[in-house]
Amino acid sequence: MKRTKIKDILKKEEFDYKVNIKGWVRSFRNNQFIAVNDGSCMGNIQVVIGLDTDESLIKKINNGASVSVDGTVIASMGRGQKVEIKADSLTVLGECDPEKFPLQLKNRPSLEYLREIAHLRFRTNTFSAVFRVRHSVAYAIHKFFNDRGFVYLHTPIITASDAEGAGEMFRVTTLPFDNAPHNEDGTINFKEDFFGRATNLTVSGQLEAELGAMSFSEVYTFGPTFRAENSNTPRHLAEFWMIEPEVAFNDIFDNMDLAEDLLKYIINYSLENNREDLDFLATRLAEEEKQKPQNERSELGLIEKLEFVLNNKFERITYTEAIQILLDSPAYKKKKFQYDVSWGIDMQSEHERYLVEKHFKKPVIVTGYPKDIKAFYMRQNDDGKTVAAMDILAPGIGEIVGGSQREERLDRLMTRMEEMHIPADEMYWYLDTRRFGTVPHAGFGLGFERMVLFITGMTNIRDVIPFPRTPKNAEF
Ligand code: 4AD
Ligand code: MG
Repeated sequence: MKRTKIKDILKKEEFDYKVNIKGWVRSFRNNQFIAVNDGSCMGNIQVVIGLDTDESLIKKINNGASVSVDGTVIASMGRGQKVEIKADSLTVLGECDPEKFPLQLKNRPSLEYLREIAHLRFRTNTFSAVFRVRHSVAYAIHKFFNDRGFVYLHTPIITASDAEGAGEMFRVTTLPFDNAPHNEDGTINFKEDFFGRATNLTVSGQLEAELGAMSFSEVYTFGPTFRAENSNTPRHLAEFWMIEPEVAFNDIFDNMDLAEDLLKYIINYSLENNREDLDFLATRLAEEEKQKPQNERSELGLIEKLEFVLNNKFERITYTEAIQILLDSPAYKKKKFQYDVSWGIDMQSEHERYLVEKHFKKPVIVTGYPKDIKAFYMRQNDDGKTVAAMDILAPGIGEIVGGSQREERLDRLMTRMEEMHIPADEMYWYLDTRRFGTVPHAGFGLGFERMVLFITGMTNIRDVIPFPRTPKNAEF
């Protein structure tokens, strides 16, 4: 018989029809009731086997084993479910030795422990919910842009340029480490390397997206990006996914509107399509919050937080205003910040979180950052000090989006590149966009995992990507 997904059986709430289901055993009670899950939804289906079932078969029905069941869907006598399956026959497809299986669900394994067995953690309720939501968020993003006529452009993973100019790149090479060819001056001769030049994993697809925007008007990239920054924080990954729209003719205000629309669209999509998973994650979060001291607990539950963000306009302030708010804050006056505050600083996570969580209590878009702490491509403002940058700061996360209007004026861009020691000759292809039909344009990058963190209410970024890459960790 053809397999039916458990989700469809639970949703239908009809009785007296034959099905086949396949999945993994989540629990087995009284030698009779098996909870089976196939990942199609949060819920398990209860399979009831006959009391005359063979002893040797019963021994194989352990947590983690995979089973195939033929049977009849009937109304459930027990509490907790409307329907269950009365098994006609059950086959254990793959056994699972309970003594050796590292995933014991009974005693609620910690998220830290589950990270160590990330190859098995999809089989828990928490992680199956998180990764179903992650899938849904990815789909919503493509749908958002597709419905607005954006072209999805695949930008390269291997690149010779440093888009952010921050030098935090992973080298890609086939040169032998023990016997690399050298130039006369002792440096490594990358002409001998695979691409005939030094190459890296990309930190951003933006520069290439800008090239696309000069033809399609609106494009976006959605791909993996890599940063060799040594930040061991709950918000940083060495390999993460980023969504980068780039729109010709948009200025910084259009850019803010687009970003706010995108974030709200994603939140709304998840609330409408992932309610069961989000409700589960909300309960999980509420339990976690109870462990915290009263004054550190968040005021809103997960669903209320998402609805609140959806229904309120993001606050929009300038960097200069943000610094003033921080300087005037009780936290600053009582010396509660670890890092000092003055105009020109690159705001630390504690400052960003003060602004969103304590002061405004909603997402904040900060614009007009000092040019010295931002990338070379951002449009210079008339004050000579700031650029048309925008960061979106989200409660519980900090920076979730970074973007800007781009410097479309060739002379200004070249001066800035020179000041920042960015090799203009190697980037002739980028500068050509400003030489041949340049237009005002703007774009931003949304950190995919930070968005999934926000939606799921998880607190560590390692728990929202299937296999996290962080300093000293590339297991699985
Ligand atoms: O602010 P960032 O560095 O901006 C750019 O890369 C621009 N080229 C984007 C653009 O304008 N097209 O990164 C954008 C976002 C951040 O706001 C953050 O959400 C996420 O990417 N991000 C990270 N997420 C996880 N781990 C890291 N190490 C991250 N670094 C940035
Ligand atoms: Mg940034």
